[in-house]
Amino acid sequence: MPQGVMTLARYILSRQDTFPDNTGEFSNVMLLIGVAAKTIAWELRRAGLVEDALGLTGEINVQGEQVRKLDDYANEVFLKTFQDTGLVCTIVSEELEGPEHLMQPCTPGSYALLVDPLDGSSNVDMNINTGSIFAIQRRRFCGDDEADLLQAGRKQVAAGYILYGPSTILTFTTGHGVHMFTLDAAIGEFVLSAQSLTIPERGTYYSVNQGNSRRWQPWLRTFLDYLQTEDKASKRPYSLRYVGSLAADIHRTLLIGGIFLYPSDTKSPKGKLRLLYEAAPMAMLLEQAQGQAITDQGEAILDIEPSQIHQRVSVIMGSPYEVGLAQKFLQQSKVPVLG
Ligand code: AHG
Ligand code: MN
Ligand code: MN
Repeated sequence: MPQGVMTLARYILSRQDTFPDNTGEFSNVMLLIGVAAKTIAWELRRAGLVEDALGLTGEINVQGEQVRKLDDYANEVFLKTFQDTGLVCTIVSEELEGPEHLMQPCTPGSYALLVDPLDGSSNVDMNINTGSIFAIQRRRFCGDDEADLLQAGRKQVAAGYILYGPSTILTFTTGHGVHMFTLDAAIGEFVLSAQSLTIPERGTYYSVNQGNSRRWQPWLRTFLDYLQTEDKASKRPYSLRYVGSLAADIHRTLLIGGIFLYPSDTKSPKGKLRLLYEAAPMAMLLEQAQGQAITDQGEAILDIEPSQIHQRVSVIMGSPYEVGLAQKFLQQSKVPVLG
């Protein structure tokens, strides 16, 4: 008998015992994320052909950033996909000032979805890779209390991203390894393309917005200078790869190793990336793939107790070897100079 394709639905339904609940509710959340991904991927594919799909809305979001029409579109897709389903109680989105409660009241144990609906949207009008990034938490209390959503990354029950590129890829973890699905346009289904992924122990690329280097802390400049210095024995210099869409930069890092950094700097003293729906989900994926994810102070991103839903954080993540190297440079910078 033919094996048949391992679609997302088949994979999820056949592994319900490894999911946060065994009732099928969480499986449906993941399946609807797949539906939202397909909807957004389709719109992105035809956006250049549709009047009024590209460009800015003229609005500034709660982050102080310009909103693109496709940011708004992707945000609406996530909201509408879960509306009236009774599956997700609360949605926190980069594009929404506060949490959106889809169910009233939320009950303890119900799910919250934290999402960056369109990641890397400054690239979207140029047909360069973008993504969606998500985390799923369990609500601990009833009601609308925002504090309930301020859970450390270790408490995430699932996390993942969708990459909109030459193909559409959905990568997620429920705490049992990292699995990757590629959208097969012929059948309109995500099909398993990699199971239990592990990041290479070390890589040959570093990924950072080098244009900010004069705003960085000195130890980071020293570390990057080391990566760029010729030394055949330790496989240097590293090559630079930077898309400017976190989903794309982490996807590459997950597959071929190396290091991604978005450190704090004099312009963004707390870092640029958002903890709850960018850094923490990517950190969970990387740790599940045997990689590492820390701040530029050396703290594990998954251990940070958030204080605000849109909080920003510095990020250093990737292969164990390169993140370990960064840690050594950080430690070295803390050694007092004697004499
Ligand atoms: P978003 O489009 O969701 O606001 O995210 C943009 C983020 C992230 O995708 C990327 O890693 C980073 O911003 C790029 O920032 P720079 O343009 O400052 O390099
Ligand atoms: Mn983003
Ligand atoms: Mn975004």
